[in-house]
Amino acid sequence: MAIPTLALGAAASVVWAILLVVYRLYVSPLSKFPGSKLAISTECYEFYHQVIRGGQYPWVIQKMHEEYGPIIRINPHELHVNDPAFYDEIYNYKQLDKYGPHTRQFGHPNSSSNTVEHDLHKSRTSSIAPYFTRGNILHLEQEVIGETLRKLCKRIDEFRGTGKPMPIGVAYRAFTTDVISKYTMATSFGFLDEPDFKETWFNEFLENVGMVVEKTVEKASRAGVGTKSNSIPTVFYEMAHNEKVPAEERSLDRLTDEGVLFIVAGNETTGNALSNMTFHILNTPRILQSLKAELSAAIPNSETIPQWRDLEHLPYLSAVIKEGLRMSYGVVSRMPRVSPNTEIRYKDWVIPPNTAVSMNNMDMHDDPSVFVNPKSFDPERWLQPESIELQKQLAPFCRGTRACVGMNLAYAEMYIALATIFRRYNMELYETSRVDVDVAHEFHIPQVKKGSKGVRMLVK
Ligand code: HEM
Repeated sequence: MAIPTLALGAAASVVWAILLVVYRLYVSPLSKFPGSKLAISTECYEFYHQVIRGGQYPWVIQKMHEEYGPIIRINPHELHVNDPAFYDEIYNYKQLDKYGPHTRQFGHPNSSSNTVEHDLHKSRTSSIAPYFTRGNILHLEQEVIGETLRKLCKRIDEFRGTGKPMPIGVAYRAFTTDVISKYTMATSFGFLDEPDFKETWFNEFLENVGMVVEKTVEKASRAGVGTKSNSIPTVFYEMAHNEKVPAEERSLDRLTDEGVLFIVAGNETTGNALSNMTFHILNTPRILQSLKAELSAAIPNSETIPQWRDLEHLPYLSAVIKEGLRMSYGVVSRMPRVSPNTEIRYKDWVIPPNTAVSMNNMDMHDDPSVFVNPKSFDPERWLQPESIELQKQLAPFCRGTRACVGMNLAYAEMYIALATIFRRYNMELYETSRVDVDVAHEFHIPQVKKGSKGVRMLVK
């Protein structure tokens, strides 16, 4: 008896699978959109390229665009657009939701970043955004960024003249982790104090970050003080005591989710960008020379830590930072958005309500029609009169209501760290090539080829 029942079950599954594929290909409201039949029929196609092959789906999507055009269906449920002119439409002008199945992969559902609904997200970020304004960063920059950078410089000094390579890529990630933990939780995680910059511990840390953050957040939300002067409330004190916000929104669980997101969103992104810029500057003598000349004129004493507001008007440094942000992309996963009730129009196409539609920063930043030789690091492109046009297509922090909340902090870190290090030290690359900075895998944040030791340098 068991065999006929099993056979019946198997036959029913096959029939159901066939019907599902027929529905997806020919009946679904998305069936009018072009795309690979395999990708549209089954989630297994994306799973294979993304999970089995290790973060390769964005490049498969790029190839599908070449074959099927600027708007395609990339799996049974989602559309993807490769047309920079459409970017502001979904990320900036409209106030859309995020896509639940996409945000769930990151865990921490109570963080503002992983909040699906636009209105709830808006109310969550209203307590956070004031803490990341330009004014607040300027107020805290010396105490948080300046002090942490002094520690990084001490570590660089240890390598000076020794002929021992310094893993500056790993050290940048330690620097950004210490800054973001100190800035948001009043306690530096102390990665820069570790002999190996916590390199071997980092992945384990990411797995356990919830536990580490919970304790720190609890303390920060009780203490009400932020920095060594004990005069500035932390963002968690603000969030925990904002009476206008419902009590459940101020629970430790929710604050911990937010804290974890600050750490994971703030360390690798900024660390990657700094590594990318450092590699390309050291790899191109002309760029190194121009940057050093500008910094020597602007910072007479190489031992001072300059201020962000004095640096951001330096044209060459600014061009280097823009180009580094362009080539490190920010995030390299698609960022799906959903309009729950109204349709979205793309040219002659009508995207039905409740459909996930996404774009990818890589397509924006590597567009050869705007960025000539897009794979070449060329700060001069930002110094031409027509660079205003390029700016329209630079979106490392995304745009609109869901844009990066830490953008000002990231800019301050990048300006101050690059200016200080390149003004103070003479360095050269050590066994480092493009393979150590170019994105090879998409795990939301760009990852370089497996086995890379990151950017390393000798300090003279
Ligand atoms: C160069 C550095 C950085 C880049 C390129 C970057 C890029 C981005 C991008 C593209 C997003 C949008 C992601 C999405 O829509 O899925 C984002 C969101 C976010 N970023 Fe950053 N980020 C950087 C640094 C930071 C820093 C230092 C922090 C520190 C707190 C931070 C905190 C966040 C948070 C909390 C969000 C979620 C915002 C929201 O949904 O309300 N980021 N970032």
